Order: sequence, then C-alpha cells, then structure tokens
Amino acid sequence: MESSARRAYCGHVLHSRNKDTIVARENACVIVESGLVREILDRLPEGFPPEAVVDCSDRLIIPGFCDLHTHAPQFLQRGLGMDLPLLDWLNVHTYPTEAAFADPAHARAIYTRFADELLRQGTLAVCPFPTLHEEASDILFCTLAERGLYAFCGKLNMDRNGPPGYIETTAASVASTARFLDTHPGSGNVRPCIVPRFTLTCTDTLLEALGGLAARYGVPVHSHVSESIEEIEAVRALFPHDPNGLSIFRRHGLAGRTPAIMAHCIFPDEETSRMLASMDIWAVHCPEATANIAAGGIMPVKQLLASGATLALGSDIGSGSRLSIASAIAATVRHSKLRRILFPEWDAVTFAEAFWMGTRSGGRLFGNVGAFEPGWAFNALVIDDGAMPMPQAGLTPVERLERFCYCGDDRWIRARYIQGEEIRVQTAFQDKPHTQKPQ
Ligand code: GUN
Ligand code: FE
Repeated sequence: MESSARRAYCGHVLHSRNKDTIVARENACVIVESGLVREILDRLPEGFPPEAVVDCSDRLIIPGFCDLHTHAPQFLQRGLGMDLPLLDWLNVHTYPTEAAFADPAHARAIYTRFADELLRQGTLAVCPFPTLHEEASDILFCTLAERGLYAFCGKLNMDRNGPPGYIETTAASVASTARFLDTHPGSGNVRPCIVPRFTLTCTDTLLEALGGLAARYGVPVHSHVSESIEEIEAVRALFPHDPNGLSIFRRHGLAGRTPAIMAHCIFPDEETSRMLASMDIWAVHCPEATANIAAGGIMPVKQLLASGATLALGSDIGSGSRLSIASAIAATVRHSKLRRILFPEWDAVTFAEAFWMGTRSGGRLFGNVGAFEPGWAFNALVIDDGAMPMPQAGLTPVERLERFCYCGDDRWIRARYIQGEEIRVQTAFQDKPHTQKPQ
C-alpha cells in the first residue's frame, strides 16, 4: 500500500480517551491518510473507493500495545530460575545469558526472533534493554527499525558488580555509549536512549558521565528502580546519603532533565511520589516480573495514578515470562486486587486504567502513539474473538476487549498495522512432527 494513500479501516473501534474512559465506536471507520489517523466516522463517506477499505466487519480495532520495559537478550531465558530471588537470578541466569551476545551472529538470530515475537503479541512500541555489547546493541536497534517498530533503544551500562567477562570499565562504558549515540541520531521510529542497568551496577562516576551524555544528546534514560526489598537494601548500603533510589538518578541528571523510563518503582516514599508526579518520568509496572522475582510488594498503581504519576506497562522478560501486554493488563487488575488485601483503603485498578497504561499512557513516550486521535499514528491491531462463544445477549465491545485481554492470545490478533502498513509476522515454531517417523 502507498503510505500516502487514504484508507478506511472498518470495524468496532476502541481506544482510551483518558485513564477512566475507553471509547467504543461500533461499526465505525477509521480514516487514515499517510499512516496517520484523520478521523473516525460512523459510516464510510460517499464514493470512498472500495479498494481502499479494509473491512474488519465484526472484529475489534484497537491501538497496538506499548511495552515500556523488557529485555531483548532475556528472550532466551524466559521461564528459568523463577524460584530464585532477584540478585541470585541475575548472577545465575541473566549475566551468563547476556554475556553470550558478544557474538553478533547470536545477537542477530535472537533479536530477529524477539522482534517477531513482539509483533506476534501485538506490541508495536517497545523499550528493550540490550546488553553491554555495542555491536549487539546496534543489531537490536537496526532489527527493530527493519520491522517498523517504534522503540527507544540504547547500549547497556554497568561498571561494577558484574561477573568477570560481563562488565566494562567506566571509560569504555562512556566512550561506547557516546559512539552509539553518534551512530544513531534516531530520525525514524527507533530512537536512541541511555540505559544504566541499575544503580547497583553503576558507579557514581559512570552515572554522572551518563547524565552528561543524556543532556548533551537530549535522549531519554531507561533504568530500574526500587524493584525488590533486597535490592533496595543493597542500594541503601551503596548510596547511604540518598534518601531513595530515584533521587540517585535525579542527582546525576538521569531523571528530571530528559524523559526517564523507570521500571518498577514498587515502594515509593513521599518524595518519590512527588518526583513521579512532577517530572517527565514513565513509571513502568511489570506485574508478572514482580510476582516471579518475589519483590516483596506490588506497585501501588491506584495510589500513583491518583497522585498524577505517568504509568505504563512492561513485560520485563525474562523475569516476566510472556511478552503479551494484553496479559499484563489483566495481571495489573488481578495484582491490584491481591494488594488490596493488605491495603484495603485503595481500590483495585479498573480495566480501563490498565488498558490506558498498556496503550495510550505508554504510547505518549513515543509521541502521538497509543490511541486513534486525529494526527496520531495508525498503529493498530485487529482482534477476532470468534474462538470464544458469544453469550446470547451479546457483549459490548469493551467487554469483548476485556475478554481478549484475559482469555485471548496471539491467535486472536488477525492483523497488525504500523502507520497504516500491515506487518506480517513469521511463525515462532518450525512445524515439526511431534513423533519421529520409523526409519
Ligand atoms: N535489575 C537489574 N537488572 C535487572 C534485570 O535484568 N531484570 C530485572 N528484573 N531486574 C533487574
Ligand atoms: Fe527489567
């Protein structure tokens, strides 16, 4: 399709207007020009050329999902070591897995599979953690760009507390990050960012230098903060003069100057809540990872939304095991109900709030992404729930959307569009027979 062409995508159109409202337009048409939404109409305009109509009939048309925190190399280690606490899991599984990305051929093979799996699961905008390796990070950046995904993508930094063979010197870390930023000015959908792993693996000297690069290049920063009780205690021992994890980033210019993407923020004190509400920070809730690594708490989503923080969702594989943001939406509601057992003063998160986090709220990091407003990118999924029986009285489009997030999977996603272009996904598994033929 010509990207400048005018197209109409017709079906039941749903998107978040704000955190409390999912707008549903039944049997409507999204008119798209040059990949951008122009308007949503109740019917096709007179004389609209039939060859420019994508008729999704009774299916749902929703914005593509936005995954603001995941780990591309950890695609390989999903579902492993899930009975370990965070810091042991990093040492036993994660650092050895990531160290193998020194081999560019390995990086290319795994990152290609990772990008395809993102698309298959309906994620069209992503912030993936890479590894320390400049070449592999480059490959990740280019692979996501080739697929057309929206992304912020950098090179990982860690100059302490890594194992021998998976650590870098402060000087090498800074130099290679600067080179990465020079190589990737980021004029397309994939743009560069700075990725200090977390404060336990970065010295003050490195953090300060990275803060300088963030300001000089005007790029966002992506990191982890306050993910588990054991990690918070270790950070407190290393940074005894900082009142909380987020203030370490702020002190070094890694939060508050350019946009920051901070995974977890599970235990915000008053000052952290104030910073989240007043600074350009996306606090990313990764419910599955939080449960798997036994963080010792659950992000107070309802409380943070009430205080005005900007929240998004992340799959956080491999501490999460699934790349599906639809299932992260369901887990956000589910986990908030568990949290309520301990904190009954806070209501559970609504489905509308969780859907907002996984689409429009996360999408704002990338610009006009995550909803179907005029002038926004038409990044969309077509959802077919025909595999589930429909009750006789029928369901509203919002109920059908909720049911997809809880019960559906990638087979329900019948099409994916980025700026109006259909993106085809390859299959994940080779079709191998499950039994061997007798010789
Ligand atoms: N904190 C620092 N690195 C990591 C990581 O790779 N995964 C998770 N879940 N937390 C981290
Ligand atoms: Fe993570």
